[in-house]
Amino acid sequence: MTVRTHRLPAASALLAAGLATGAAGGCSGAPAPGEAYRLVPGGDAQRGRLLLAHYQCGSCHAVPGVPGRSTQVGPTLAAFGGRSYIAGRVPNEAAALQRWLQSPQSLVPGTAMPDLGVSATDARDMAAYLMALR
Ligand code: HEC
Repeated sequence: MTVRTHRLPAASALLAAGLATGAAGGCSGAPAPGEAYRLVPGGDAQRGRLLLAHYQCGSCHAVPGVPGRSTQVGPTLAAFGGRSYIAGRVPNEAAALQRWLQSPQSLVPGTAMPDLGVSATDARDMAAYLMALR
């Protein structure tokens, strides 16, 4: 599924109002030197943030900068860019994270994280946002 950001009025309004504190807005930046494996080539972190709202990741996860009433079903994604492992199992690097977002079960069979039908482009942009969370 492809989502165009202009079709996300609620999230766009939040963005415009500056309500969401910006991990992608400047306080935290690109991965440090030596952490290039965390870089997501072509990733658009701002679009990724809107997509996190669109896919309602916030219904299960606390995600800085993304609205949602977290149920704490999933772990917080605060400072995820500094996390060593995905689901405590797979080393956290850009390619693995994109695969996780598209098909969690294929990366960690039996995980409780659902497959949300995320496209490759959307996974790329959401990964860019998550990797920038420090
Ligand atoms: C129905 C609840 C639910 C939804 C919706 C959900 N997740 Fe998850 N997510 C989980 C659970 C549960 C885990 C823990 C999985 C595990 O450890 O095996 C998880 C794990 C993760 C992790 C790894 C966290 C860590 O600390 O290892 C990331 C990253 C993640 N989810 C991102 C997302 C994104 C992005 C979305 C939206 C596209 C999303 N999730 C939607 C339940 C959810």
